[in-house]
Amino acid sequence: MSEHIVAGVDIGSTTAKAVVLKNGQLLLGKIESTGSNPARAGQEVLESAITDSGYDKSRLEYTVVTGYGRVSASFADKTVTEITCHGRGAHFVSPDIKTVIDIGGQDSKVISVDASGRVVDFVINDKCASGTGRFLESAAQLVLHVPLEDLGKLSAGATSVCKISSMCTVFAQTEIISLLAAGESKENIIAGLHASIAGRVGTMANRLGVKPVVMMTGGVAKNTGVKYALEKELGTSIIVPDDIDPQLIGALGAALIAEDMLKAKTGT
Ligand SMILES: Nc1ncnc2c1ncn2[C@@H]1O[C@H](COP(=O)(O)OP(=O)(O)OP(=O)(O)O)[C@@H](O)[C@H]1O
Ligand SMILES: [Mg+2]
Repeated sequence: MSEHIVAGVDIGSTTAKAVVLKNGQLLLGKIESTGSNPARAGQEVLESAITDSGYDKSRLEYTVVTGYGRVSASFADKTVTEITCHGRGAHFVSPDIKTVIDIGGQDSKVISVDASGRVVDFVINDKCASGTGRFLESAAQLVLHVPLEDLGKLSAGATSVCKISSMCTVFAQTEIISLLAAGESKENIIAGLHASIAGRVGTMANRLGVKPVVMMTGGVAKNTGVKYALEKELGTSIIVPDDIDPQLIGALGAALIAEDMLKAKTGT
């Protein structure tokens, strides 16, 4: 097959991501905020990724779209669930993975995949924000006043782990304010928030059964404190991709499916 590009777009509740593959290999990825218009955010992040790739839009063969915003993406050649895309993307990065834990802004998912990266089973928590990135964002920004990017580093400095018992975002904020007033350090409180998320996601994961190798994907995988707390909770080590941003794994999976479509068409 001659030189060709395909794209995958993941329109999540919090961020829109695009990945461009050139000849089946990762060329680049982009992440932007989803904002109030998911379809537009998806279109914009795709166009910006294509511009950065140096190719003209007309060269794009196929675009596969995933994420909760996929339903409104008129530019999609095909839409695929996030479960399938995270499984596929994670398998591409590390073919030996068996379990994928994707913690995004709005929901968390635990996915079992087989040796070829196909989904065997999954569980999803989309009823409540408590085990998700949004929970951490609101705590960090509204109450603790620390940058999201610093949560992992700060929790590593905890001398003890506060118990955060509220599962609801708003009640947890009140609880954090009380802990601060009682003189608890931000570090101990953040470690408590991470333990609370790990407890929630760990319960889901154990329901499904956690087979190693385990990989974390989604934006929260960049929070080393949540990774550490989950490793403790599950009693197993977890890998986080380092040659690609873990937040891009769903879009990568979508792009790989776009590549499959092209291969099916050209018969290669
Ligand atoms: N640099 C970072 N450090 C720590 N956490 C981060 C960082 N960047 C993003 N996050 C976390 O990632 C979350 C967003 O992740 P992601 O982009 O995977 O969500 P999404 O795909 O939009 O949501 P969903 O899949 O639930 O619809 C944020 O809520 C935040 O908690
Ligand atoms: Mg997502």
